[in-house]
Amino acid sequence: MAAHFALFTITITLLIAVAVAEIRSTQIRSDSRSTIPFDEFGYTHIGRLNLTVTDISFSAQKTPLPQLGFFLCTLDAWVHVLEQLQEGEIHCPLESNLIKKVFTFDQLQPSAREFSNSFIVSDANQFTLAFANCMPNLEVSMNVHSVMYNFNPITGQLDFLSAGKTALPVIYLLFFIVYVLLGAVWIYTLYRKRLTVYKVHFFMLAVLILKALDLLCEVEDKSYIKRTGTAHGWDVLFYIFSFLKGITLFTLIVLIGTGWSFVKPYLQDKEKKVLMIVIPLQVVANVAQVVIDETGPFGESLYTWKQVFLLVDIVCCCAVLFPIMWSIKNLREAAKTDGKAAVNLMKLTLFRQYYIIVVCYIYFTRVVVYGLETITSYRYQWTSVVAAELATLAFYVFTGYNFRPKVHNPYFALDDEEEEAASEALKLEDEFEL
Ligand SMILES: *[C@@H]1O[C@H](CO)[C@@H](O)[C@H](O)[C@H]1NC(C)=O
Repeated sequence: MAAHFALFTITITLLIAVAVAEIRSTQIRSDSRSTIPFDEFGYTHIGRLNLTVTDISFSAQKTPLPQLGFFLCTLDAWVHVLEQLQEGEIHCPLESNLIKKVFTFDQLQPSAREFSNSFIVSDANQFTLAFANCMPNLEVSMNVHSVMYNFNPITGQLDFLSAGKTALPVIYLLFFIVYVLLGAVWIYTLYRKRLTVYKVHFFMLAVLILKALDLLCEVEDKSYIKRTGTAHGWDVLFYIFSFLKGITLFTLIVLIGTGWSFVKPYLQDKEKKVLMIVIPLQVVANVAQVVIDETGPFGESLYTWKQVFLLVDIVCCCAVLFPIMWSIKNLREAAKTDGKAAVNLMKLTLFRQYYIIVVCYIYFTRVVVYGLETITSYRYQWTSVVAAELATLAFYVFTGYNFRPKVHNPYFALDDEEEEAASEALKLEDEFEL
């Protein structure tokens, strides 16, 4: 069944991933919106916007117009432009002195239906490319192709990644190296402790390898975009690995949470059900992520897909917590009946810690990272990536360390004294809970 899901997603991914990347093409059809945003880009200090617009047509016969045109504007300036419009100082964003006019349609040759323009941007800021239509009821159709990039005036090299993202290839490469080292340490551990290795330990290795491959594709994808502005096909591989990584990670959290192969060799029906909910939802989440990545910051269906992603993600995160809670409950009950208090207390502590760590990991990667993304300036967009990757790394290390194969299995009973102390501790806990 899992194989079917994987095939299904790969197909969907291939269908959707018509790589557009940082060079963007948009079709506008009979649109009468007064402003249409296209793309945004963080300029470092000197860069360009190359704009090519073809197949221009209007709903009514019009002579070339100064009230139609493309402009660049920062978010801060846009707030002031809106004020100016409201106070009646200007009647069209193109009249404002706060924007950079790129092309107005009165520059269009009579009866021409296309133009091409190159615009140099020499201040460091995050600019949004937008189209203003200040003719009421005039519908515009056109194909817009925009290329935005920075260039290094000394080496002459082009950089198609926005200011805050230009360091991403290096960052991903560093994390890739860290995961390769972790993988090596894990393989060595499995080899040394091969007598106490469970199936779940090999599963952990698979998760680690998929994470490393995912990062490697991310490095290649981002550095290719940096050099050429297009995504080339590495993005497809990247989506496949990040899909597999997502599924295996959630599965691993459920498996460890249920104590599978540590505590018992089988899964209960309700635990299987959790997996059957989480895996298909991960498929949906990944499809949503692909659409979000590929449509750019102003895509039409972006909002819907973001909602879908958020909803599915929240459901998955909640679902994986249930098996851990069931395990904790079972252990507490077992502690009262089977007389192996010390063993059960130890397991209980481990599962409780694991529960807290999973909650922290989910909270950090969803809420804190999103907060960072929102509040940091455009130049520091990479910080949220670093924060998310560090949290993920910490989670992998914690999980690996706490559930590593051990020569002295902690689940074996200890001496009587310790047994006594443990059952006292459990009793105390019961009293507090009552
Ligand atoms: C942008 O346009 C300029 C001027 O036409 C040209 O020299 C440059 O190569 C173009 N850049 C890209 C990446 O197409």
